[in-house]
Amino acid sequence: MQIDLSGRTALVTGSTQGIGAAIATGLARAGATVGINGRSGDRVEEAIGRLRGDAPGAEFVPVTADVTTEEGARRAAEALPRVDILVNNLGIFDSADPLEITDDEWRRYFEVNVLAAVRLVRQYLPGMSGRGWGRIQNIASDSAVVIPAEMIHYGMSKTALLAVTRGFAKQAAGTGVTVNSVIAGPTHTGGVEDFVYGLVDRDLAWDEAQRVFMREYRPQSLIQRLIEPEEIANMVVYLASDQASATTGGALRVDGGYVDSILP
Ligand SMILES: NC(=O)c1ccc[n+]([C@@H]2O[C@H](COP(=O)([O-])OP(=O)(O)OC[C@H]3O[C@@H](n4cnc5c(N)ncnc54)[C@H](OP(=O)(O)O)[C@@H]3O)[C@@H](O)[C@H]2O)c1
Repeated sequence: MQIDLSGRTALVTGSTQGIGAAIATGLARAGATVGINGRSGDRVEEAIGRLRGDAPGAEFVPVTADVTTEEGARRAAEALPRVDILVNNLGIFDSADPLEITDDEWRRYFEVNVLAAVRLVRQYLPGMSGRGWGRIQNIASDSAVVIPAEMIHYGMSKTALLAVTRGFAKQAAGTGVTVNSVIAGPTHTGGVEDFVYGLVDRDLAWDEAQRVFMREYRPQSLIQRLIEPEEIANMVVYLASDQASATTGGALRVDGGYVDSILP
C-alpha cells in the first residue's frame, strides 16, 4: 500500500516529543506538511530540527501555542488556517490516589484531555467538510476502557474522548471527513519513563524497571513490553490516508493486545 499525503496539511498537537513527534515524522514521511505544536518556541524549533533529520525534505510549520486555552487555539489557527489532518495527540497523565484528586484536578484533566480537542475539532471541521475531505484523530488510551485505579481522572478523560469522537463522526456524516480515535497502549516515551519510575524502584535499570512495571501494573499486555511510538504513528498515518476512507466513528487499537476484548 502506497500512502501519499502530499498536498495535505496536518496539525499534530503536542508534537515536540513522544508519540506526537513520531506521528509528525510518519505524516511528514508520507508527504504531508506538518504543524509542530508545543508551548515554547525553542522546543518547537528544536523538534523541527530533529524531525527534519528524520524526514528529509519534509515541510514543517511551527505552531507555538498552548492549545489547551482558547487563545492557544486561536494562535494555532493563525499559524495554520487550513488543516486537512488534525491529530489531537496532546494529553496529560499521572497516577493519583482516587480519593485525593481535587475538583480542580478533575477539571484540569477534562480541560486538557477533552475540551482542548473539542475546541480544535470545532475550529477545523467546518473547513474540512466544506472541502469535502478531512481526517480527525483523537489519541485515546487503553485507560479509556480499562480504568486503572490509580488513574481514574485520566481514564475518565480518555473515555470521554472516545464518546466525543463517535459524536463528531456522526456530525461529519457524508462529508468526506472521517473521525476516529486511536487507543494507544502503554508506550515507550520519556513521559512514561517518569511515570514508570513513579511506581517502581527508581534504582532499577530501565529494562528491568519496564519488565517489573509490565508484570505488576500491566499484566494484561499480550506483548509484555512497551509499545514504540512509531507503532502508534503507523496507525495514524494509515487513518490519515485516502485508503482509510471507509473507517470512521471507530476506536482503533494499538495497545499490544492490552484491552481484553474481541471487538475493537
Ligand atoms: N505514553 C503512553 O504510554 C501513552 C499511552 C496511551 C496513550 N497516550 C496518549 O498519547 C498522547 C501523547 O503521550 P506522550 O506520552 O507522547 O506525551 P508526552 O511525552 O508527555 O508529550 C507531551 C507533548 O505535549 C506537549 N504539550 C504538553 N502540554 C501542552 C500544551 N498545553 N499545549 C501544547 N503542547 C503541550 C509537550 O510539548 P512541550 O512540553 O514542548 O509544550 C509534548 O510535546 C497523550 O494523549 C497520551 O494520553 C500515551
